[in-house]
Amino acid sequence: MSKISAFRSSIFHCIEVNGQVVPSYYKDGIILVESGKVVDVGEYSDLIGRLDTDAHITHYKDSLIMPGFVDSHLHYSQYKVIASYGQNLLEWLEKFTFPEEQKFSDKDYALEVGNLFFDELISNGTTTAMAFCTTHNNSVDTFFSIAKERNLRMTGGKVLMDRNAPAEILDNDRAYIDTNSLIDSWHNNGRLSYAITPRFAPTSTKEQLINAAELLSQYPNSNNCKGVMMQTHLNENFEEIKWVKELYPECNSYLDVYDKYKLTGDNSVFAHCIHNSDDEYKRMSDSGSKISICPNSNLFLGSGLFKFEQLDKYNIDASLASDIGGGDSFSMFNVMNQAYKVAKLGGYTLSPVKAFYLTTLAGAKVLNMDDCIGNFERNKEADFIVLDLKATSLIEQRLSLVKDIDQLLFCLMTLGDDRLVRDVYSLGECIYSKMEA
Ligand code: GUN
Ligand code: FE
Repeated sequence: MSKISAFRSSIFHCIEVNGQVVPSYYKDGIILVESGKVVDVGEYSDLIGRLDTDAHITHYKDSLIMPGFVDSHLHYSQYKVIASYGQNLLEWLEKFTFPEEQKFSDKDYALEVGNLFFDELISNGTTTAMAFCTTHNNSVDTFFSIAKERNLRMTGGKVLMDRNAPAEILDNDRAYIDTNSLIDSWHNNGRLSYAITPRFAPTSTKEQLINAAELLSQYPNSNNCKGVMMQTHLNENFEEIKWVKELYPECNSYLDVYDKYKLTGDNSVFAHCIHNSDDEYKRMSDSGSKISICPNSNLFLGSGLFKFEQLDKYNIDASLASDIGGGDSFSMFNVMNQAYKVAKLGGYTLSPVKAFYLTTLAGAKVLNMDDCIGNFERNKEADFIVLDLKATSLIEQRLSLVKDIDQLLFCLMTLGDDRLVRDVYSLGECIYSKMEA
């Protein structure tokens, strides 16, 4: 029998009770882990009796343990073009992003950036993400190999793009076969899963969207097996939307393109959705499609403001995402901070518990992984982070005034960044420690 590891600290996670998100907080808590899975979580005084007297307990003082962050949309190949000065989405893609992505035809380059990317992700406390790779197969092999080496639950896929981009990064006629063999290699390989990744409607021909949908239909969810995911962009920028209308005159909206070509559904995640019409929201809801909300990217590229009230109105599953490198921060604390302000400008107050839900359990739901990660329910995988509540003097001083968990979380999402992240655990094993970094 393997041994139980125990971690004592303040502990927070979100749970859902009758469809409502509620915070679960233990001021002096303990989490018990065995074989990489959560055995129990609760007050230290309630659970200590269950441990052998010689059990090893890691005691984190002045700390908060919470689930690792889930970032449901980002581009690993854009690590080095973060903070590039672009006028708008389409110019930024052409000037900085496409030239950078060309470099990933070189396996060594992909490996170099891949390792830097995962280092940054982990030091920011993100333990799961869904990433765009590039059109090159080796960028996908590199992404998954590193994730496997580091024991992370990750989703990713080869970008599908067969028009309106430089020839060096366009697909050839092997895209379909290659995607199929990448799915064979990586989908449900340990903690990894595959996402079919048409970049966005303007860079795919109809034939490519049809092929992407054909692949998606070949790997559906079943009782004992998760299906492949689908990730793309939708309604991010007005020029982009106009362009889609010109390229797809037979479709009555941007969403209609994906819907007509059978790319909507429970396993489909659409980034941005900031200019959706009511009809597009309704069709997303009817099809079970999910949204990645990317406030940093939307502000950085001047794309617009996400309308948070639409999520409740249309009952759509959504979560927050960094959208690196259109987004300007790997820190999900910073993403929550920007989300709060974007919501506020739209007349919606994003509660701190909801913000933390949108970066943990909601992310797991969007990625179809909420049976494995997202909170500390029994038998979930023990991916968690330890936050240093004395990371800076300002944070320490501000936290000395907080009266409850809501106030604590609000301070963390407003003032926090990677300095808060003290230790990171994957399957109950420490994979990063700030002290040793
Ligand atoms: N739309 C198509 N490609 C991209 C991308 O790389 N980043 C963002 N933010 N939007 C896109
Ligand atoms: Fe993106």
